[in-house]
Amino acid sequence: MELKQYLQERAVIVDQALREIMPAQDLYPPKIHEAMHYSVFAGGKRLRPILCLAAAEALGRDYQPLLPVACALEMIHTYSLIHDDLPVMDDDDYRRGKLTNHKVFGEGIAVLTGDALLTYAFEILARYGEKHQEKKAVWQVLQEIATAAGTAGMIGGQVVDLESEGRNLVDKELLVYIHTHKTGALFRASLRAGALLAGASAEELACLTLYAEKFGLAFQITDDLLDLVGNQKKLGKPVGSDTKNKKLTYPTLYGLAEAKRFVREAIEEAARSLTKLPGKTEPLELLLRYLPEREF
Ligand code: IPE
Ligand code: IPE
Ligand code: MG
Ligand code: MG
Ligand code: MG
Repeated sequence: MELKQYLQERAVIVDQALREIMPAQDLYPPKIHEAMHYSVFAGGKRLRPILCLAAAEALGRDYQPLLPVACALEMIHTYSLIHDDLPVMDDDDYRRGKLTNHKVFGEGIAVLTGDALLTYAFEILARYGEKHQEKKAVWQVLQEIATAAGTAGMIGGQVVDLESEGRNLVDKELLVYIHTHKTGALFRASLRAGALLAGASAEELACLTLYAEKFGLAFQITDDLLDLVGNQKKLGKPVGSDTKNKKLTYPTLYGLAEAKRFVREAIEEAARSLTKLPGKTEPLELLLRYLPEREF
């Protein structure tokens, strides 16, 4: 299996499901639905949904029934990006190769677009649960995703990320908190959602959770590195945003070489956690290979 082809094929599957599940663009009031479509279909990598589907496959299950959950995860992620880019947060003008939501629709609509995507994600999950046989697994997934998106997860990470801006802090624990929460939590919930809905045993769930935590950490450290050495055109978002905002990041605290070493270590640990899984783990292995060679 080739990495680039795999990512592309899966992104097409997720996009197709998103197109089916999103409210129509011309639905009243059209402005908000247009703004939702604008950011969701601006060309994200779809990593969280792809990981959710791959978790089920690593347990020998079909990914197809999980598509609504995968879509909900992507909507929550897209909402977080829209808000992250606002002038009151990172103040960035480009995202996914296009002008940020607030640059096109204004800040008021951008805030509401984020709110709408977050709310709609839970509407989708509720509808999914209504039809699903395994109610208990769905309840657990709902709780996991809500917790991961909330103050004990992504919001918590974003708050501490904002609070640590411009303070030249040398606080390794705080940096770990920021990364595991602002980014790690949703990756963790994505893989655990796939695992729980595929009926994972406690041991399988633990393996996939460890994979997710290491993946999320390696992903955000790489994101920090790309902010320094990446190519804006390939990334689809500005480089130098962290420097502009004086963010606490891995390269600022440890330097480039050491930050890269953390990425390698996390990838190795994640790879080890896959050995006990009964299904197709090749996609999850492939996704690890994406991290160090990542350009977008
Ligand atoms: C960007 O996430 C935000 C971070 C958590 C670093 P992605 O790099 O997955 O963004 P898209 O979805 O591909 O645009
Ligand atoms: C954002 O982290 C994480 C979330 C949106 C929750 P960053 O601020 O580093 O993400 P980018 O670099 O803007 O994509
Ligand atoms: Mg940010
Ligand atoms: Mg940002
Ligand atoms: Mg970043």
